[in-house]
Amino acid sequence: MKPFWESEYLNKEKSTFGNPSKEVEDIVPFLSKETKILDVGCGDGRHSLYLADLGFQVDAFDISENAIAKINYLKECNNLNINTYVCDVLEFEFRYKYDLIIIHGVLQFIEKAKQPKIIELLKKWTNINGYHIVALFTDEEPVPDDLKDIMIGVFRNEEIKDYYKNWQIEMFESRKFNDEHENGIKHCHAMNKIVAKKLDVCL
Ligand SMILES: C[S@@+](CC[C@H](N)C(=O)[O-])C[C@H]1O[C@@H](n2cnc3c(N)ncnc32)[C@H](O)[C@@H]1O
Repeated sequence: MKPFWESEYLNKEKSTFGNPSKEVEDIVPFLSKETKILDVGCGDGRHSLYLADLGFQVDAFDISENAIAKINYLKECNNLNINTYVCDVLEFEFRYKYDLIIIHGVLQFIEKAKQPKIIELLKKWTNINGYHIVALFTDEEPVPDDLKDIMIGVFRNEEIKDYYKNWQIEMFESRKFNDEHENGIKHCHAMNKIVAKKLDVCL
């Protein structure tokens, strides 16, 4: 069964996951005009479209063809410059380093065994003084029935902090919130968010 967002990506009128997340808006004052941004598992682009509209260079990819088709449509409509790719995070070919990498609501869909390699790769391809914004689901709440087949990599609460021990943690949040997918399934999510900065002393 396809996840609920696949059919919602076909609706060009509405953003599937709503407005840009607060921590993405909050980081904007700290970004220079030359900032290069990568949005990993960008979905239908609530972050990429927002940041490109502010004038930043944005690369965005998602494994979903529907997601990228929708961003491509919206970027044309709004005359925005975003480089988009249909791609699995495990296969993305980095060509340069980024100043901000966003991976929001994606890592819990990756097998546990593959998560360390992905996070280390994203860290490697980040410039000194660059940021990561990571949001993921934790095991403090059960996986909703409709996502059981694909949500195979939920994190322990605060586990993500271990990956950023050698970076400066700018913000960490652990919270729970109620949610209802368009298919009517009500549930609670437990989420961690982290904003971390790569300093020149970071290994
Ligand atoms: C919950 S959505 C979040 C979308 C977007 N990041 C946001 O915050 O609005 C998760 C997205 O991750 C994408 N995704 C899942 N596994 C992926 C993978 N291995 N590589 C790239 N994208 C992936 C899905 O296709 C989906 O669009």
